[in-house]
Amino acid sequence: MDSSKQENALPQDQELELKLPHLLSTKTVRELYTQIVNEWDFLRKSACQTAAGRALWKHVIDDPLAEVLAGETYLRNLHEKIKKDRHNNARETSGVILAVRTLWFDSKIEAALDSFGGAAQVVLLGAGMDTRAYRLSCLKECDVFEVDFPEVLQVKAALLQVALESTENLRLMAKSLTRVATDIRENDWLEKLQLSGFVPEKNTIWVLEGIIYYLSHSQAMQVLKVVAEKCTLTHTVLLADFMNKASTTLSNSTFHFYSDWPDQLLPSLGFSHVKLSQIGDADAHFGLMHDPLNLFNKLRNLPRSVETHPDDGTPCCRLYLVQASGSPDQNNFLENHANVI
Ligand SMILES: C[S@@+](CC[C@H](N)C(=O)[O-])C[C@H]1O[C@@H](n2cnc3c(N)ncnc32)[C@H](O)[C@@H]1O
Repeated sequence: MDSSKQENALPQDQELELKLPHLLSTKTVRELYTQIVNEWDFLRKSACQTAAGRALWKHVIDDPLAEVLAGETYLRNLHEKIKKDRHNNARETSGVILAVRTLWFDSKIEAALDSFGGAAQVVLLGAGMDTRAYRLSCLKECDVFEVDFPEVLQVKAALLQVALESTENLRLMAKSLTRVATDIRENDWLEKLQLSGFVPEKNTIWVLEGIIYYLSHSQAMQVLKVVAEKCTLTHTVLLADFMNKASTTLSNSTFHFYSDWPDQLLPSLGFSHVKLSQIGDADAHFGLMHDPLNLFNKLRNLPRSVETHPDDGTPCCRLYLVQASGSPDQNNFLENHANVI
């Protein structure tokens, strides 16, 4: 195969025809989807769109529950876009960002757990239809907390019950899974997390995937500060994707919070190590980004301070994948170091 087109390497059957799982036509599942389509706002519905991405990129992401969690509408929408991209021979196939992002978070969660010796708390803020607790064996010694709006968590639990009852090989991989219904724009979300069993002193990985830019600037900063404060108590790892300003200012954008320099922002909040990746970088590639002329490779070859593409004047919309960490030892070290200076 021409490696420059590898990101388009969807299996033939997906390209032509969308095969929906039987479960989607059962009465219970159809009723749950009526609720989603009629009652949820775009914020909650984004959970299903993300799941559709993982379902349709199943040749690189092993998430057997994603189809049922995505639902027919979102699977069909994305499948149509993928078909159009194939037809137009597009350099970037719809959903490739979601695929790379998912694989990046998976790999960084595993690496962080290795650094902790395997056991930790993993908190997914805006967990949506994420199924890591069921699909990542590296979570076997972990207490996982999924935080999202009550309606999202209720419908997800109901859909998972149906899916797990009808499939033999699927089971919880994590040591425990606790769902915490709350709005992280409110001041009491951490308290609710703690009341649900989260222990601030235990090593923790915070996963903020596809969530932070839905918040306002002050709400996002508040959430990031709450997480950063935990660096003074325990080993803390934050994994998050950030949009730059250009990405949030496109017309019809539903995004608010942005950071052009999260690698400067996070240390100012208390994290000691920060690594930023862009889609297409060595650790955010996964064999899906070979074409040097695809949008992502062109972008990451431009300095980050460049705001518009030199070729056509369009805004440089970037998604940064960021891992940050901190611990009390590091804080002591930095304080001592500062005193010496
Ligand atoms: C794009 S989805 C991403 C879901 C998940 N992280 C993933 O990658 O599959 C965003 C999720 O954040 C949730 N969300 C957005 N704002 C939230 C808030 N203020 N409090 C709790 N959850 C929120 C939405 O309900 C939705 O499930």
